[in-house]
Amino acid sequence: MFMNFRRISKRQCVQMLTTGLVLCVLMVCREKLNHHVVSHVIAFSYRYLVNSYDFLDSSLAISSDHHSSISVDGRFVNHPYLINHPGKCKAGDGKGWDDVLLLLFVKSAPENFDRRRDIRDTWGNESFVWSELGVSVRHVFAMGVYSDVGQRSRIQNALLQEDRIHGDLIQQNFVDTFHNLTTKLLLQFHWSQTYCPQAHFVMSADDDVFVHMPNLVKYLQQLLRSQLGAKDLWVGHVYRGAPPIRHKDSKYHVPYGLYPWPSYPDYTAGAGYVVSGDVAAKIYQATLVLNTSLYIDDVFMGVCAKVMGVSPQQHGYFSGEGKAPYHPCIYDHMITSHGHAADVRLLWQAATDVKAGGMLGKLYCTAVRVMLLCLPYYHTYPCLAAFT
Ligand SMILES: *[C@@H]1O[C@H](CO)[C@@H](O)[C@H](O)[C@H]1NC(C)=O
Ligand SMILES: *[C@@H]1O[C@H](CO)[C@@H](O)[C@H](O)[C@H]1NC(C)=O
Ligand SMILES: *[C@@H]1O[C@H](CO)[C@@H](O)[C@H](O)[C@H]1NC(C)=O
Repeated sequence: MFMNFRRISKRQCVQMLTTGLVLCVLMVCREKLNHHVVSHVIAFSYRYLVNSYDFLDSSLAISSDHHSSISVDGRFVNHPYLINHPGKCKAGDGKGWDDVLLLLFVKSAPENFDRRRDIRDTWGNESFVWSELGVSVRHVFAMGVYSDVGQRSRIQNALLQEDRIHGDLIQQNFVDTFHNLTTKLLLQFHWSQTYCPQAHFVMSADDDVFVHMPNLVKYLQQLLRSQLGAKDLWVGHVYRGAPPIRHKDSKYHVPYGLYPWPSYPDYTAGAGYVVSGDVAAKIYQATLVLNTSLYIDDVFMGVCAKVMGVSPQQHGYFSGEGKAPYHPCIYDHMITSHGHAADVRLLWQAATDVKAGGMLGKLYCTAVRVMLLCLPYYHTYPCLAAFT
């Protein structure tokens, strides 16, 4: 034993040094780590052990004196439509409703002219969907007014010009900022209930999202033909048991006064999700009786859904905030991918030009998807999605 002392002590020395180093790192990061880990553990336990959000209904309901003083449409009087297309979902003769499979809101900001142009030329092309896929969809861009007062009228004129050509902007008179995203959510549900109530499905997507329309339409048609039909559906990339972020410097910071509980109800990433028409109607009803101060729009949507008894369901090929790997074996399954700008044209071309590959091709693609989705350095679609 004594003979081995030098060797062991060397190894021990290395071990001690490593341990020390790890401890140092932990100490340095302790504050952040603690906060992060602890809040997630608490949120998760809350979600899975308590799993009761009954308080939402009573705590976030608008107090009755407020309620009686606002007419049902009252809050929309505060934000009148500046640009609108009430006939968007009407049939050709302008009287009846058209049979709309999907009403798609792209949440855009007034200044994002280029993104809207790219979307119109690619996945937002209604004529393409009609001529190639034989279904009727409607795309509109939802927005408020430009945030910089000095530039506002210049931008507004450009928007009016853009809308004269394309006729697809829906704008309300609120300032288009991050903290007004819930107002934009209200716009979408108010508009869909008022001007397109017959749509089988309603989707909301960011303007830096790529939507694979052929795959989405195929999926929605399957749902429509299935036994359940277009009912009780809220699908996307689901967050379960997410804790509110209390760091003051975070963009997503939510003070205790606004939401005092340790975890949010389940919700789908706001980057892209789909609801069925009946769920859209329910969410709209909830927005009329709930306090809308919670400014994170997708979390607020989760609150509305919880109150109305709607649960979100996970779909492996809605990416949430993730960006899909560029690969043909992904293109034939993908529905949404986040974080695109100029590359949306290339992606649209590649993604709509994939040819089915037969049995061997399927095996090959499954293997490729396992490589792309299950290895730890990609975080888009879950590993399980590789096998579907
Ligand atoms: C909504 O909640 C906020 C923050 O908790 C509060 O200040 C406001 O008075 C509430 N509004 C209504 C209409 O109840
Ligand atoms: C939209 O699709 C139609 C039909 O495929 C096509 O003729 C048209 O050029 C497309 N429009 C744009 C702006 O790409
Ligand atoms: C949201 O829009 C309203 C109405 O235009 C405006 O008064 C308010 O300042 C905006 N809020 C934020 C946080 O930008």
